[in-house]
Amino acid sequence: MRLERRLQAGPRRVHPVREDDVTVVDTHSPHPASPSGGSDWWRTAVIYQIYPRSFADSDGDGIGDLRGITEHLEHLVDLGVDAVWLSPFYASPQRDAGYDVSDYRQVDPLFGTLEDADALIAGAHSLGLRVIADIVPNHTSSDHAWFQEALSSAPHSRERDRYMFREGKGPHGDLPPNNWISVFGGPAWTRTTDPNGAPGQWYLHLFDPSQPDLNWESEAVRLEFDDIVRFWMDRGIDGLRVDVAHGLMKAPGLPDYTPDPQGGSMGGDAEVATPYWGQDSVHEVWRRWRNVLAEYGPDRILVAEAWVHPLHRMAEWVRPDEMHQAFNFAFLECPWEASAIQQVIDTSLAEFGAVGAPSTWVLSNHDVVRHASRLAVFGKNPQGHGIGPLSEFKPDRVVGLQRARALTLVMLGLPGSSYVYQGEELGLPEHVDIPDEARRDPTWQGTYGGRYGRDGCRVPLPWLSDSPALGFSATGETWLPQPHDWAALARDVQDGVEGSTLEMYKGALAHRRTFGLGAGDITWVDLGPDVVAFDNNGVRVIANLSGAAVPFIGKVLTSSAPVDSAIPPSTAAWVLPKPAAHGEDQA
Ligand code: NOJ
Repeated sequence: MRLERRLQAGPRRVHPVREDDVTVVDTHSPHPASPSGGSDWWRTAVIYQIYPRSFADSDGDGIGDLRGITEHLEHLVDLGVDAVWLSPFYASPQRDAGYDVSDYRQVDPLFGTLEDADALIAGAHSLGLRVIADIVPNHTSSDHAWFQEALSSAPHSRERDRYMFREGKGPHGDLPPNNWISVFGGPAWTRTTDPNGAPGQWYLHLFDPSQPDLNWESEAVRLEFDDIVRFWMDRGIDGLRVDVAHGLMKAPGLPDYTPDPQGGSMGGDAEVATPYWGQDSVHEVWRRWRNVLAEYGPDRILVAEAWVHPLHRMAEWVRPDEMHQAFNFAFLECPWEASAIQQVIDTSLAEFGAVGAPSTWVLSNHDVVRHASRLAVFGKNPQGHGIGPLSEFKPDRVVGLQRARALTLVMLGLPGSSYVYQGEELGLPEHVDIPDEARRDPTWQGTYGGRYGRDGCRVPLPWLSDSPALGFSATGETWLPQPHDWAALARDVQDGVEGSTLEMYKGALAHRRTFGLGAGDITWVDLGPDVVAFDNNGVRVIANLSGAAVPFIGKVLTSSAPVDSAIPPSTAAWVLPKPAAHGEDQA
């Protein structure tokens, strides 16, 4: 098969552009034997998110697995990323696609074995890729041994104290302890039944009822997670992406709270912490984990998934003794407007810089509408709400992809660390026509179809245009349906094809490395009100959000659409500007 032939093609070579007036940093060497970049690697790294269920299926059951990932690692080297982050692959009943863990030290048989995980880590390291694993500390699965023990134990027992059990309100305790609602819809409390059949206490679940929240006031919980962190560090993991890192601690007394129904479902309010998100006391936990990581040397990292606003609050998660990085969701949520993009970049660099952390940049992940669609949706689509057949706004695919490619070049041209979500390098759009009966996200069930949820961004990847399941699975099985027209976006169709989205990503990542853009610094360049333009380490990044072409002088390194003497609307380019001759306009 064509894909296999390329796998044998040998190590990646990058052909750096050399210009007399620019310092070219050639940091490339063919596949180092171990991860490179020194202990500060994460400050500039491009990290590729793998959603294991949908990456590559090696055993034909329609669900991606660890061996499938290992078999494709060379493709990620070829793409030019520095590290991978794997969404959860632990033992789980899969009610929230693995974010409901029943055993943190086991690999779910759907994904393989611990030996497969070891082989993946070793394989990645031998190719120079770092590996970040997900960890889910806010809640366990209700199948977890601890929760089962809690259910069969008495109220106020040691077993129940590991979770958030409370008495109900009302004369018979049949009202929930407070008015909190779950992120996936419905009340955040479920009543238990005592062993004698009588109605019992209630337990808190900020997500699905099958995801009971742990009690992080409990030292037993903290000790257990210290140990889980060590378990994965001992296996050679380079970092942990911490799920719901703004959760864990709840305000004393669990006061009532009514969130903004239009707000992002996982976000704390701008200035006031929601009683279940962003409590100050959560930071003690991250200091403690940072100390655990320090036992393994300086190059292991913690990455926060912390949906808090505004950016100066998010920066609290990455103070020098806490986590290393936090996903920059303000950048992801930014609309297609030059002034808004410029402002979020300025604020991010200032706020993260103020605590000595690099900014991160991210446009897509497994919880949000893919940016090749989101950027062409003219209406508010809060995180996790999704798009489906009956949505009011349907994205225009041409406009969406044009904008996505342009904004990606802005992102990869910025200093700091960038995250790339699997499939965005193929320009994949959101799958907006998944039939109701095929939907798997608990958000869809929990809101009785009120929110489509996140299935549309989780569809299995197209690798080969003319193979069963587009090369995802040899049997043709897929746990979510793939759109019929994705054959045209398959990796083999784009590989080596000038102008394809895949080649744009490869080119940009190679230039980013060559010019050291991740470690650079930006200076804004004024090319008009609807143009985002900045210089970084000798490269000028220009994104034209206006309706007219923007002229420039210089040599184009890469662009999101064909460019000659001017940059067309909805297009970005990286340019090596020529020094202005006397009297010549530099723009
Ligand atoms: C955030 C994860 O990214 C999401 O997929 C998951 O459903 C929730 N946390 C609950 O764990």
